[in-house]
Amino acid sequence: MLVLGIESSCDETGVALYDSEQKLVAHQIYSQIELHALYGGVVPELASRDHIRKLPLLVDAALEEAGKEYSDIDGIAFTEGPGLIGALMVGALYAEGLSYALKKPLLGVNHMEAHLQAVHLEDEVPEYPFMTLLVSGGHSQLVLVKAFGEYEILGDTLDDAVGEAFDKTAKLMGLPYPGGAKLAKMAEEGDDKAYDFPRPMIHSGDLKFSFSGLKTKVAMTIKDSTEADYPNIAASFQRAVIDTLVVKTKRAVTEYHVKSIVIAGGVAANKLLRQELARVMEPMGVRVFYPRPLFCTDNGAMVAYVGHERLMRNQGSLNYDVKLKARWPLSTLSSKQESEQE
Ligand code: KG4
Ligand code: ZN
Repeated sequence: MLVLGIESSCDETGVALYDSEQKLVAHQIYSQIELHALYGGVVPELASRDHIRKLPLLVDAALEEAGKEYSDIDGIAFTEGPGLIGALMVGALYAEGLSYALKKPLLGVNHMEAHLQAVHLEDEVPEYPFMTLLVSGGHSQLVLVKAFGEYEILGDTLDDAVGEAFDKTAKLMGLPYPGGAKLAKMAEEGDDKAYDFPRPMIHSGDLKFSFSGLKTKVAMTIKDSTEADYPNIAASFQRAVIDTLVVKTKRAVTEYHVKSIVIAGGVAANKLLRQELARVMEPMGVRVFYPRPLFCTDNGAMVAYVGHERLMRNQGSLNYDVKLKARWPLSTLSSKQESEQE
């Protein structure tokens, strides 16, 4: 079965083709980052318009890359939420049109499930059950993955997501949007012990996160500093965030006795986070898995993969009653059917 995956929930247009035997056969991505950087954040209306411009071209390019024709496509998967409604609409309408023209089943995929399952695009994959630390621009969650489609959210953020805290802090230091990766790069030049920033909620005994207090503390420090101090601030901030993530993840792994941990979402591209989790988990006999950096941030391959798994389970349809979702909690999914509309 050859599945076309389409991602358009935010500022990346992603398209990929996933085949039952050959696995990932094409992967095309166009990032709108430069477009939005001018405004210091994603402008939803501009995002939608740019998805319209790029999506058909990327599908053509993906088919050419794989040496396939439109008629070879057996099913179409698109991101149905969570995300920006206007941006999601572009992918959904394109997918509906193609499904109708080809008479091939259509399926809406949950963007967070796609991030969480992206690790299956790699050669080495964890066995179920596993723990996932899902950290992106919009989410910071610890999720127990019991089986494909069976997700239990154990802890969430009370305020800012990790990626959001990285981006906002980076912005205060004058780094262009989205500053997360650039802040991480700057941190390599700094001393992570220069500032003693708080490790939020590490003694709370639960699996919840909160980053707004830390962000405020760092913002005050930046205000009283000069540019020469920025690398040290970046390094100390990054260390505080990662220490917190590691403490909570260790607690989750211990409480739920899992043998594998997956890091997923855009912040999973962070090198220090990967290193530190591996260092702490190894002595516990727990293996750490993560997608290659390209598949940590938004992409079509993760959508094609989840689409393939679900379309193989006959969950696609030719009824075009798509209801896009700005919010769509993972806990409402199941391995058998798509979640009820919210
Ligand atoms: O998953 P993603 O592409 O989009 C969402 O679904 O939110 O994640 C993007 C987030 C941004 O906040 C970005 O700054 C952050 O991931 N990010 C990083 C790194 N690379 C991307 N944060 C810290 N360190 C990185 N190396
Ligand atoms: Zn994402």
